[in-house]
Order: sequence, then structure tokens, then C-alpha cells
Amino acid sequence: MRIPKVLVAAALIAAILPLNDAQARKKKKTFTHETVAVPEVQPQVIAVETQNTSLVLCVREDGELQQLYYGKKVDASEFEAVPRVHNRYGSGCSAFPSTGASFLGQPALHVRYADGTHNTEMRYFSHSSHPVSGSDAVETTIHLKDHVTGLELELSFLAHQAEDVIVACSEVINNTNAGVELLDIASSAMTLRAGSYLLTHANGSWAQEMQIENELLQHGVKLLETRRGTQTTQCGNPSFLLSLNTEQLNEDYGEVVAGALAWSGNYRISFEQGPEHFLSIVAGINPFASAYPLGKGQRFRTPEMVWTFSDEGAGGASRQLHRWARKYRVYNGGEVNPTLLNSWEGAYFTFTTETLIHMIDDAASMGLEMFVLDDGWFGNNYPRNNDRAGLGDWKVNVSKLPEGIDHIASYAHSKGLRFGIWIEPEMVNPESDLAHAHPEWVVQSPGRVIYQERSQWVLDLSNPAVQDFVYGVFDSVMQLSPSIDYIKWDCNRPVFSFGSPYLDSQDRFYVDYVQGLYNVMRRIREKYPDVLVQCCSSGGARVDYGSLRYFNEIWTSDDTDGLERVFMQYGTSLIYPACVMAAHVSEVPNHQSRNITPLKFRFDVACQGRLGLELQPRYLSADDMALVNRCVESYKNYRDLVFTGDLYRLGSPYGNDIYGCMYVSEDKSRAVVYVYSIGFDARGTDGQRFRLKGLDPSRRYKVTEQNVDSSCWWGDGGVYSGAFLGSGAFNPVLPNLYSSAIFLLEAE
Ligand code: GLA
Repeated sequence: MRIPKVLVAAALIAAILPLNDAQARKKKKTFTHETVAVPEVQPQVIAVETQNTSLVLCVREDGELQQLYYGKKVDASEFEAVPRVHNRYGSGCSAFPSTGASFLGQPALHVRYADGTHNTEMRYFSHSSHPVSGSDAVETTIHLKDHVTGLELELSFLAHQAEDVIVACSEVINNTNAGVELLDIASSAMTLRAGSYLLTHANGSWAQEMQIENELLQHGVKLLETRRGTQTTQCGNPSFLLSLNTEQLNEDYGEVVAGALAWSGNYRISFEQGPEHFLSIVAGINPFASAYPLGKGQRFRTPEMVWTFSDEGAGGASRQLHRWARKYRVYNGGEVNPTLLNSWEGAYFTFTTETLIHMIDDAASMGLEMFVLDDGWFGNNYPRNNDRAGLGDWKVNVSKLPEGIDHIASYAHSKGLRFGIWIEPEMVNPESDLAHAHPEWVVQSPGRVIYQERSQWVLDLSNPAVQDFVYGVFDSVMQLSPSIDYIKWDCNRPVFSFGSPYLDSQDRFYVDYVQGLYNVMRRIREKYPDVLVQCCSSGGARVDYGSLRYFNEIWTSDDTDGLERVFMQYGTSLIYPACVMAAHVSEVPNHQSRNITPLKFRFDVACQGRLGLELQPRYLSADDMALVNRCVESYKNYRDLVFTGDLYRLGSPYGNDIYGCMYVSEDKSRAVVYVYSIGFDARGTDGQRFRLKGLDPSRRYKVTEQNVDSSCWWGDGGVYSGAFLGSGAFNPVLPNLYSSAIFLLEAE
């Protein structure tokens, strides 16, 4: 039977109609939230204070929490009289601006609710402050609520009194009646009011980390961010200095706000200057591809943002951060870590047990305190003889090292050295047993090429099974010998074509990866509290205050060229303390830059941090060996200052032919001074004037140049007051490019 066309058409229309109705209904949907009356609140000031700084927050009549001030300590109660800021251009002064109401700037909080709406208006609910036991910190927690959706927010400020550091973070509590998506959830927001803002921040690349740039912020938005997933600090660090009311970075004077995000994943820090000239800073996890789902009743706590303010210039801000980091953040911060010989540049992948035993003998005779076996010791079916195979197979390579690791490690111990070993547990070479056994553990996106970088793939740390594996790598390597004292933890590539076969929501990947890493590190620290662990990521690609909670030190850069290191170590020192800065002397021509610098210059630079050597000692001449012994020995006399002293930079290496810096003990009784010629300056033949800082002007210091027979300063061996040394009378002669010197100052 043939069906008339008209009936077919009617049936089709009938089939389509209900759909259209449903769509139409959807379009007309009315939102279900009731507008809830906002409870009346008492306007009040909430002051978060340290010894010398104040962060002044204020609850307005309508319950909005505003930030009125951050800077030198004030009487916060006077801010009660400050009239409400008229929010004409949508920027406002909210202490934690959210998408919604009249706020039109970069939000710290942006939520998509189950009904598709985006608006949030947080209102004050309560707050409390209490001293934190075991420190001089006071924690203030402010509880806010959106009265339409029920979403809650807790802002926490940990104010470290003596260090003048405030550690801020936020936590969202989903008390709405359904799941939500966190489109933006910053750790902290800060509004500054000044005539101008000079932003100082680090950019870089592999072997050129921490290159410093200064820029005067204009109106609009400036972003510091990364989307690399891992290796997040290779091309820029989640930290900055902001100098107020100046167009120049001043080392010793002027107001400086410094910030550093404690997060080893994608970060974003925005600086927005609107028509009112306020500078609004929002810092946190990068929302890129991370619309984080938060189920009903769940909470999300952000990483921490570390703030400090100083009116003693960049130097003051750095010292405050360093003091805080040594005391409260860096794993065992401020403890002296051993000098070492690392096998990498001296042997690369080519060694036998004998090679390593010789290196250990040499390290011992040079006065070093540890030997570290770098890459190349593992893999059997896929031996690690180059970087193309073996990652993932953490079993000793029996043809290279038939006697095993314990044989070498216990030999090191027998020579009075500690022993360290390299791992890169987050990664896998396609050429490995692991890649064949667990292809589902690799970061990947369905149907896409899994791109290689350095011939390797990234393991999916968002997956708890992979976390167990990575923890197991550390744990099983530690079982190779009871004499393992140090692990160099590497991470040599970023994430491409991100994706996790494990996760339901790919939006969780970037955040869950880092949380997975931190879970692993937490477990490691529970079992191995005393093992020294270096955070390496192709050099300094994971340098942040999140990772430093678990790691003792960082591998500052694969580039050990003395000249390049002056700049990178200066850049690192703006935010991070010298106790974390691993600095090695390597051979020349330098393997990265091909530059040739004198051995003494290389030492004088490396002695600014945790000193190490990374070369084949056999190639050193007798003269060089004598210098090595001398430098290592003298370093041990003053290195406590490197690990615990206050840093005073003597200028900047940028745009200058000379640079110097010094570390001064807390009681100002001792100091070590480093000076370098980093460009030829013919006028320098009469001596380069440095004004030494941080000394007690009334105390007298004996000045002794290290590592030389005849000094480059006329006053060497004499005793001088701190005032004299700070006057510019200290003028060592640094006549040539790469002239350098180290002086020890000891109060009488
Ligand atoms: C990275 C590190 C180096 C070295 C090599 C080994 O590049 O930064 O120090 O450990 O890996 O492959």
C-alpha cells in the first residue's frame, strides 16, 4: 500500500513538534532560585596585620567585603570612616570580586550554576581570627555567602608577624542544591592604589630560566600565565614584584609589593588597571580548560598566594619572603645541605661501576660531601643508554652496573660521602616495559597523536593508580640501598594534547594532576622525612612555593655557565632564598653556552648557592684541582650564611658591568660578600666601589678575601666599621671581564 505524501508529512511534523515544544519550553525557562533577603550586617573593618604591614578589609552596609588598603602598618580603625567606593566603571574594590552585579573586571570567582546562570554576589557572613600554634602567625578566616544560590566562600589569611608575609587562599563550598562548575577560582585578589606600578617578573626558557623583565603597567590587563601543565616555570615564574610610584626597580628604597603563587600547575596572575587607576591583581590556578565541576556539598580549596610588602625596596621584599620561606615553607629550609659531585655532565649516559667509583674517590679527595648518580642507571629490556628509552623501568641496568646500586652507595658512605640518585617518575619512554604494560596511564586524548618530547610521554597523575606507581618508584628506588640519602626528582617535558583516560571530566585534568603530584609527595614525606629531595625539571621548570613544601632544593638551571648564572641566580633571588638554589661548577667550554670563564669565576658564582660540581674530575689539571680544594674548603667556612643569612643585592647585573651580593647573619656578626665583573669596564682598574649593606654600622669587621694569595682589595685583612664598609670605600679591583672575589666579614 502506498502512503499518501501528505500523511507522511503530517507524521513527520507530529514527530518534530514535541521536540520544538520542549525547546520552546527550555527557552522560556524561569529560574528556580528565590531571591533571598540579605540579612542586615554591621559595617566593620577587618584588619589582617603583621608587625609592619596592614591589609585592611571592610564589610559594607550591604554585606559586600571590600579591600581598602595593603601596605605599611596603619591604624585600621580609621578606615571605618572611608566612604564606600562608587563603582562606576565596574571595577570596584571587592576583596574577592565575583562575576555578577556591577562587577565587570577580571573575576576571582566565576561560577556556572546548574541552571546555567553565572552571577554570584558574595556577602559577609562571619569572621574569626586565632593565633596559629607553633608559629607567630595569626589566621583570619572570613566566611561569605551568596544568598540567592547558597554558594559559600571562605577567605583565609595567614599573617606571619615577624616576616611581614600574608599567605592567602580561598575555599568554595557548594551548598547550592546541585552541582556547579568553577570557571574561575582564584587564590587571592588584591587591590593597590598608587600613581604608577612597575611590574618586575621572570620569563625564560630551558637553560635561561628566571630572566628578569621590568614593565610599567598601563591601563588594561597584563597576564602572567602558563598552560604547560608540567614544567610550569620554565618560561615564566608565578611570582612578581610591584614597585609603587616609581618607574625603576629600586633595590633599597621605595614601596614594593611582592607575590608568589604556591602552585606547580597552570597559573594565571592578572593585573588590571581600570579608569580609576586602581590596580586589581587576581592570582590563582589558570582557568584554561579547567571548568572544574564541584558536586553538591563538595568543597574546593585553592593553592596559596604569598604576599609581602616592604618600604625598603626590592631587597626588603625579597628578604621578607626568604625569611618566611626558610622558616615555614621550604622543606627543612635553612638547614645546610651537602656539597656534591653530580655525574651528569662528567659522564652523561656512559659509565660503568668503575667510572662511578673513581668519581666518588675524586669527590672525597676534593672535600665534597655527596656523590649523585644522575640519569642512565636503569632499564634492561630498554636500557637507558640515551634519552630515547627506559623511562618507567626503574630497575638497575645489570650490564652497566652488575654489582648494583648498593655497592656504589655503600662505597660512597665508606669514603665519608653521602649518596644520591636520579629519577624521573612522572614520565615514560614509549620504548619501555611500562609503556607496553600500561598504555592507559599515558596522558592522551582519544584518536589524537600522543606527541613525544625528549622521546617521552607524561604519565597521568590524575589517576590514583599512577600516583601509587609514582610513589612506588621513589619507594622502590630507596630500597636499592640503605645508603641512599638524596633523590634528584626530574620532570623533563610539558603536557601536550592533554587528556586523561581515567577522568570522567577532562576539565579536572590540569588541577588533578598537580593534586596527584602533591599526594605522592605527601606520602613520600611521611615515609622519608629525612631524605634530601631536589626538585629538577630540565633545570628550573618547577620552581614555586607549592613544590618547595616537599623539596629541599631546586636545580636552578641546566645552564651552569658562570656568566649566565649571575643573571639567573639574581632572578631567582628576587623571590626564592639561596638555601634552595643548587649551583654547580662545570667544565669549559660550557656544555650549554660554549662560553669559557675562569674556574675561579665559576666557583665564586656557584658559592652563592648550594655548591656542587658537575664535571669529570679526571680532566682537571693539578692547578685546577688545588683551586677546587681551596674553594670547597673555604665555602664550608661561610656557607651557613648562604643557607640562613639575609640577602643584600649590591645593584643588579642588568645593564651593569659589575654586580655583587652578600649574605649577612641575623645577628649581623658575620657576612660574606661576592663581587663580579660581568662586562669590561676600563675605568674599573682603580677599583669598583660597592656600598656594603646590612652590616651594623658601629661594629668592626675583619675582612678576608677567600681563595687567593694576593687580594684584589687594598684593605684585605684589615678591620673596619660597618659604616666605613657601607660608605663606598670598599673598592676591590676587578679589572677584567670575569674578575671576581669573595670576602668573609667577621665582627670583632
Ligand atoms: C635534565 C636535568 C639534568 C639531567 C638530565 C638527565 O635535563 O635538568 O640535570 O639530570 O635531565 O637526563
